[in-house]
Amino acid sequence: MDRVNKIIHNSRYQKLIAELNILEKDRQFCTHSMEHFLDTARIMYITSLENNLKISKDVIYACALLHDIGRVTEYKQGKPHNEASAEIANEILKVSDYSDKEINDITKAILFHRAKDCDNILGKLLYKADKQSRLCFCCEAESECYWDKEKKNFDIIL
Ligand SMILES: [Fe+2]
Repeated sequence: MDRVNKIIHNSRYQKLIAELNILEKDRQFCTHSMEHFLDTARIMYITSLENNLKISKDVIYACALLHDIGRVTEYKQGKPHNEASAEIANEILKVSDYSDKEINDITKAILFHRAKDCDNILGKLLYKADKQSRLCFCCEAESECYWDKEKKNFDIIL
């Protein structure tokens, strides 16, 4: 099995995704679903190709698939989800054949994905794609959303 599919078939990952779907069932704002993870992955990959960054596709997908997985911990225990996601990602990546260097890059990107100025290129890609994946321009809850105006997408970015 390839590495990306090892992540999505990981039993802990699947359990957390199922729990997250239940916890966000009645959420009025953007949810953290598999659609969001794949939208983020695809935008990251397109941006990487457009900028000739030569980041491997399965590193990008791992980063996007795991970046919000700690939301469950945030909802239940109050721990910031970027920290929880980085810890969970570390465990799942270890059993999905990622190298120590790749795990370090991915977990660092996840840890800093809420900060605009992450000093790692994967983190910059993740920050941008995470925002670009959201459809603020046609969202009914936009006016009540806590995101800063500068983070919201009021236009389609070409
Ligand atoms: Fe996200």
